[in-house]
Amino acid sequence: LTPQDLIGETVLVTAGPTREELDPVRYLSNRSSGKMGYAIARAAVNRGAKVILVSGPTALTPPCGVEFLGATSAAQMREAVLGKAGEATVIVKAAAVADYRPATRAAQKIKKEGSREMTLVLEKNPDILAELGEIKGARYLVGFAAETADLLANAGKKLKSKNLDLIVANDVTEEGAGFDVDTNIVRFLFADGTVQELPRMSKEEVAGRLLDVIAARR
Ligand code: C5P
Repeated sequence: LTPQDLIGETVLVTAGPTREELDPVRYLSNRSSGKMGYAIARAAVNRGAKVILVSGPTALTPPCGVEFLGATSAAQMREAVLGKAGEATVIVKAAAVADYRPATRAAQKIKKEGSREMTLVLEKNPDILAELGEIKGARYLVGFAAETADLLANAGKKLKSKNLDLIVANDVTEEGAGFDVDTNIVRFLFADGTVQELPRMSKEEVAGRLLDVIAARR
């Protein structure tokens, strides 16, 4: 039987990509499927937590029993997350938030007539997780870091700069890890400097291990 070890917790999970609109028919996005975040949300419900899932556009069906908030852009995801953060005892940011958005959104479809090249000007999106780190309080804050090089160093930097308790790091160039596959190969980096390496496992199993850590922290 599933242990009910998250009763009393409110877990806010973000999942999926964001879309940053360029014009009425185009957007910039990434390959996040949302599978990791949805697996965490589902497992947390099964272990007795109240779960709020804030999700970018995905092909997945929200798990039964979650409070679901859809968001398309990073700005919308930020609004939803900051609006619900006060209720959360644990926040897990598995969403792949776009780092940049087009500086302007064209009101009409951008035409290809004219020059052979076009330059897009992008501006930085707010870092939602870093903002949460600033208002952390007693909340347990978990981030994800998908890297293609210097995994531990880069993830460690994010853990510190965003004031997290735990960062789940994965090298997305490894076979069977990262975007749009059903398995992941992750390392847990904790604020005290400890690192826990996990073998390749399903995203459901990764979710279970993460929730074990969260349940054991009290
Ligand atoms: O993009 P980066 O590698 O810095 O993402 C690390 C963590 O920060 C992830 O958990 C991601 O959800 C979060 N993040 C965010 N807002 C951003 C960029 C990243 O919340 N604008």
